[in-house]
Amino acid sequence: MSDSITIFDTTLRDGEQAPGASMTVAEKMRIAHKLADLNVDVIEAGFPISSPAQTEAVARIATEVDGLVTCALARTKEDDISAAGEALANGSDTRLHTFIATSDVHIEAKFDALGDTMAEKREAIIQRAVRAIEQALTYTDNVEFSAEDAGRTDPAFLCEIVQAAAEAGATTINIPDTTGYCAPSEYADLVASVVDCLPAPEAVTLSTHCHDDLGLATANTLAGIRAGARQVECTINGIGERAGNAALEEIVMALTVRADEFDVTADVRTEHLTPTSQMVSAATGFPVQPNKAIVGSNAFSHEAGIHQHGVLEERTTYEIMSAADVGQDAEQIRLGRHSGRHGLFNRLEALGYEVPDAHRDEIYQHFLDLADRKKEVFEEDLEQVMEDVGAEAVETATGLPDNGAATNSGTPAYRLDHLSVQITTDEAPQVSVRLLRDDGSVREEQATGDGPVEAVYRALDHAVDEPHTLVDFALRAISEGADALGEVNVTIRYGENEFLGQARNTDVVRASADAYVDALNRLAAAREHTESVEFVQNGIMHAYD
Ligand code: KIV
Ligand code: ZN
Repeated sequence: MSDSITIFDTTLRDGEQAPGASMTVAEKMRIAHKLADLNVDVIEAGFPISSPAQTEAVARIATEVDGLVTCALARTKEDDISAAGEALANGSDTRLHTFIATSDVHIEAKFDALGDTMAEKREAIIQRAVRAIEQALTYTDNVEFSAEDAGRTDPAFLCEIVQAAAEAGATTINIPDTTGYCAPSEYADLVASVVDCLPAPEAVTLSTHCHDDLGLATANTLAGIRAGARQVECTINGIGERAGNAALEEIVMALTVRADEFDVTADVRTEHLTPTSQMVSAATGFPVQPNKAIVGSNAFSHEAGIHQHGVLEERTTYEIMSAADVGQDAEQIRLGRHSGRHGLFNRLEALGYEVPDAHRDEIYQHFLDLADRKKEVFEEDLEQVMEDVGAEAVETATGLPDNGAATNSGTPAYRLDHLSVQITTDEAPQVSVRLLRDDGSVREEQATGDGPVEAVYRALDHAVDEPHTLVDFALRAISEGADALGEVNVTIRYGENEFLGQARNTDVVRASADAYVDALNRLAAAREHTESVEFVQNGIMHAYD
């Protein structure tokens, strides 16, 4: 029988470290439940020392999400370990993951205080790792140790530290290619060297953790499996620091489709892959590129006549897996104004939404209104329907996406209550907005601009108190026809931090306004959640020591 692979999902920790990908606790809970449906084995739910919101997400996932192990990350510092241990305290199946850098380049740059020579510093690093593992074991017997930047670490030192970690009681040893530097054969050799140097390799699970700086994260992960790793750390859609992490959906489908090549099994419900990908995209505001392997909207589209003909004759001529296997089959039934409630709710469930009974009438009515305006309603249109309803429903219903990051009060800081745009051929566009604040106050502002979007953004800037700059604005059509839905993605910056906003509407000026308000809400929520903790959501991991 083939070995099984432990799927360790770090979308909510390393994935959230992608610039601009911050998620609220409510969004993390929805994703964690979806990851449980997908049947991943471990969720890395956060880095508790970094903020109260991270602590809350870890504690809630550990107690509210069944059927998997909840993991929390900590540096080898005492305070980090106790913050992670306390966040996990009420969970029934937990893991504490501690890490320290081991490559010379990291040691030189970060650990001046640990000694004068490289040898002294390496010795001190081993001692810190061992102490941290011993402390972690007072909270849970499931402890993982990572040698950060193992990909560029001297293999002899890597061997010494993993031996010490295993002896101290770590049951999972992770070999991160933190900078995405390794080639697949090199990474396989590194994993194999760790297998060889452990006195009892069968007593620990070796893990891969590959970043995608050279586009090799999935290839390196698979190479690591062939060399003996039995856990893979990965994220949905491959989101993560810089170029991201190995994509869960790619690894799982490679292991499934090429079982002949890898001879290991991943017990994942693959039909949930696309709905999970869509949920993560909606929560982070990161669009999934159409040609993304497995979950992209073009992954099963055939454009060239010769391909279409081939697929119609025999699907396997141009497809190595079926769309249904990865949850991309919903398109086959067309939705429009004659569709019934059954067809609509089935499709929504296939997309990963749990639709509470109390909101079904409202959702169906929104759908019919849209179907009246459009000949065919596409998945992207349905997401818009859910977002429209979610704004009101999210406070009472789980499973519905909300329209903006909620602050501690549970509601977004800003709501766009009114927008009017006047465009004539002779004058600059005139815009007025009315914005409701979560403290009950109302701001009305007017502005003009070179175009309607600039005028809207100026008016909104006057109406909010969040200093920021607009970094990026992108508009694209995501459904078909002249009445297509427009999707707007905006990025705003405050200090070191970027916040993404996304919105869709058949009216692209409205979508532009909603996306901007979404980004402003994420900024406001981050400011409130971080409270006195340094307001550097993505920079926190760089405060290593
Ligand atoms: O990339 C990395 O090294 C990490 C560690 C914290 C495991 O994310
Ligand atoms: Zn990482």
